[in-house]
Amino acid sequence: MFISFEGIDGSGKSTQARLLADRLRAAGNKVVHTREPGGSPGAEEIRSLVLEGEPDRWSAETEILLFTAARRDHLERTIEPALAAGEIVICDRFADSTRMYQGISRGDLRAVVDQLHSLMIGREPDLTILIDMDPEVGLARAKGRQTAEERFEDFGLPLQQKMRAGFLALAQEYPDRFVVIDGDDSLDSVAENVLAVVQARWP
Ligand code: ADP
Ligand code: TYD
Repeated sequence: MFISFEGIDGSGKSTQARLLADRLRAAGNKVVHTREPGGSPGAEEIRSLVLEGEPDRWSAETEILLFTAARRDHLERTIEPALAAGEIVICDRFADSTRMYQGISRGDLRAVVDQLHSLMIGREPDLTILIDMDPEVGLARAKGRQTAEERFEDFGLPLQQKMRAGFLALAQEYPDRFVVIDGDDSLDSVAENVLAVVQARWP
């Protein structure tokens, strides 16, 4: 059971991934809660390269390579061992984020993302929960966190708007895997909706 959370910055993915992990652990499951970029020591080092600094620090092409390198390490060292041991993996962002943030943000590089994905990653989550959110609210929440990891938030509102539309289109492209949940609701209501989706798939 490999579950990913996707959505724009500040949509509530990290909060909901943590709440779902807590609920599933409380029900007696072994759960690995992880994130991208990162989730293994090497990938966490790549994380600071891609998330800190000026927006134009890397081109979209270079980012595809860096995010895919981080994902490969994460997959080899964290995700695949956990799945092989029968554990549930909950991942805050996965390859769909590269399809969006690198694939459509600065030109049309989606085919390049997909080619590198099939060469180096070759696996999709069993379930992807898209937390849909108004980009202005999401960006305000994300900026409210005040961390050094603001490189993508510094691209501004137009990027977030493009990402929201892109994620909704991606959900239609992969209807078997994606479920869209409205993030503009209380924390607890969103968490209940997320749990209901997971329980419906794996009763
Ligand atoms: P993401 O991982 O998608 O960027 P986070 O889970 O980190 O989002 O949430 C961003 C901010 O918004 C955090 O400060 C979090 O506490 C807050 N937040 C998350 N979900 C909600 C919600 N449903 N209502 C109000 N605030 C929320
Ligand atoms: P994340 O830590 O999930 O940030 P947030 O909590 O603000 O949503 O991800 C950091 C940023 O990394 C986010 O702006 C999206 C970007 N990103 C990519 O551009 N490509 C990717 O493949 C991934 C996984 C993330």
